[in-house]
Amino acid sequence: MRFDGKVGLVTGAGSGIGRATACGFAARGGAIAVVDINGDNAQKVVDEITAAGGKAIAIAADVTRPADIDMMVTRTTREFGRLDFLHNNAFGMPPVQGTTRLVARTAEVSDEVWNRMLDVGLTAVFQGIKRVVPVMRAQGGGAIVNTASISGLRADYGIVAYNAAKAGVINLTRVAAVEYAPVNIRVNCICPGAIDTPLLAASLTEEGRLRFRQAIPMGRLGRPEEMANVVLFLASDLASFVTGAAFVADGGQTAKTGSPSFLPD
Ligand SMILES: NC(=O)c1ccc[n+]([C@@H]2O[C@H](COP(=O)([O-])OP(=O)(O)OC[C@H]3O[C@@H](n4cnc5c(N)ncnc54)[C@H](O)[C@@H]3O)[C@@H](O)[C@H]2O)c1
Repeated sequence: MRFDGKVGLVTGAGSGIGRATACGFAARGGAIAVVDINGDNAQKVVDEITAAGGKAIAIAADVTRPADIDMMVTRTTREFGRLDFLHNNAFGMPPVQGTTRLVARTAEVSDEVWNRMLDVGLTAVFQGIKRVVPVMRAQGGGAIVNTASISGLRADYGIVAYNAAKAGVINLTRVAAVEYAPVNIRVNCICPGAIDTPLLAASLTEEGRLRFRQAIPMGRLGRPEEMANVVLFLASDLASFVTGAAFVADGGQTAKTGSPSFLPD
């Protein structure tokens, strides 16, 4: 898996899965635009990459703003001359005020939480695809990888907007894949299970972590690098016949029926 001469852009690359993808892409020879709403974190990742001899630029951008999406693509192509790989990955829980709750049953979810989760979780992915397709098309092809989730395949309790956004990402991926296959743009998504990142850590108590470990046949959370490896495979020429896929990497969590074991203890 080498990316020599290739250019990539990862959103939400200041932390977690996006950071691991950006570092992995650069370590394999590619030039990378590290995009995050937190410009300081993006710069830290760039410093890390350049210290290791890689090529990277930091871009502070909010993916819920179409003008920022435009800016991040323009800056990347201006700096590196092309764009071969886009990882639409950024996600952040919206800040909530007063009595608004992030975790609630469907009928109790505020319109504000619903709209903001859909903006960052789904619409931003649409905007990213929309903006890079013309660039990739003009240069003869490219690869887009979107970060969905196993939460886009099955139901959780209490985070309906997240489940709906991630399900949307999966089918948006398929539509873009079939539409742009003839022009050599592959579009895939990853469906991570529980990955040990700041996003998950912020929403889990120790008890919650234990319950996750019990729900995962491998008995542990995933590491960001383990997701990055899947993203990089999908971005690479090794995946040349893969498009429209929703690649699950969850330690076996969704392979289970949820029925109790038939085995004696
Ligand atoms: N960690 C998990 O268990 C898990 C599981 C399934 C899917 N995912 C998905 O993986 C992706 C990455 O999550 P992570 O766990 O690495 O989280 P993370 O919090 O470590 O990283 C997310 C990054 O996105 C950035 N970001 C947030 N809002 C942004 C915006 N509007 N514009 C630009 N950047 C923004 C944050 O600053 C942060 O650096 C997300 O799409 C998330 O939904 C995570």
